[in-house]
Amino acid sequence: MNLKYSLLVVGILALLISCGDRETTELQYTPDMYVSPAIKPQEKDPSDSGQTAMRLPASGTVPRNFEPYMLAATDTLAASELVNPIPATEDVLAMGQKYYDIFCYTCHGPTGAGDGPIIPKMTKPPVLYSKKVIDWSDGRIYHLITYGQGNMPSYRNYVDPTTRWAIIHYMRVLQKSQNPSGEELASQQQ
Ligand code: HEC
Repeated sequence: MNLKYSLLVVGILALLISCGDRETTELQYTPDMYVSPAIKPQEKDPSDSGQTAMRLPASGTVPRNFEPYMLAATDTLAASELVNPIPATEDVLAMGQKYYDIFCYTCHGPTGAGDGPIIPKMTKPPVLYSKKVIDWSDGRIYHLITYGQGNMPSYRNYVDPTTRWAIIHYMRVLQKSQNPSGEELASQQQ
């Protein structure tokens, strides 16, 4: 074996020895690409003075489609004057149903009877097709969804304004379905 070959063999051996486990090599280029410091959104972020990993929005910013709601929680009378700004089209009702089922069904149940799957672990809510709620204006209900009431939490940060109005249109359908008029019943029987 001449010198050339022995150098080649030494070279190959050196190369093989250097191919160790990436995480244990001395020099790593951007190691956190391999071993990322995964933090769950609601955990504290140790690298940022213990704040939550979920970052707060920069001050003064608002989410897309944000519409300020100027009424205070106690302004229920003023809220009753608000008019539902979207028409109850088929698409809007479908959207209302979708989001009622996501946000309200858990407690209020499929028809608004207050028999959602979480009851009785949670206080049973009143029926949504009572005379009282039927007589409430859309604005009054909008106000209640926005601020919550008693054991019902506020949905202000989860349900955007348009969706809130769509849910109310769908609630009106539930109310009708539970209180059909004589005429409606007669037309069903035909
Ligand atoms: C975590 C359970 C829960 C969820 C989810 C929930 N509610 Fe409620 N809701 C309640 C409870 C409990 C009450 C009774 C509050 C009180 O006055 O103490 C209530 C009351 C109401 C009332 C007033 C009824 C009355 O007779 O006073 C309306 C209207 C209403 N909810 C609509 C909704 C809509 C619309 C949604 C979905 C966006 C929703 N709720 C989601 C629990 C819930």
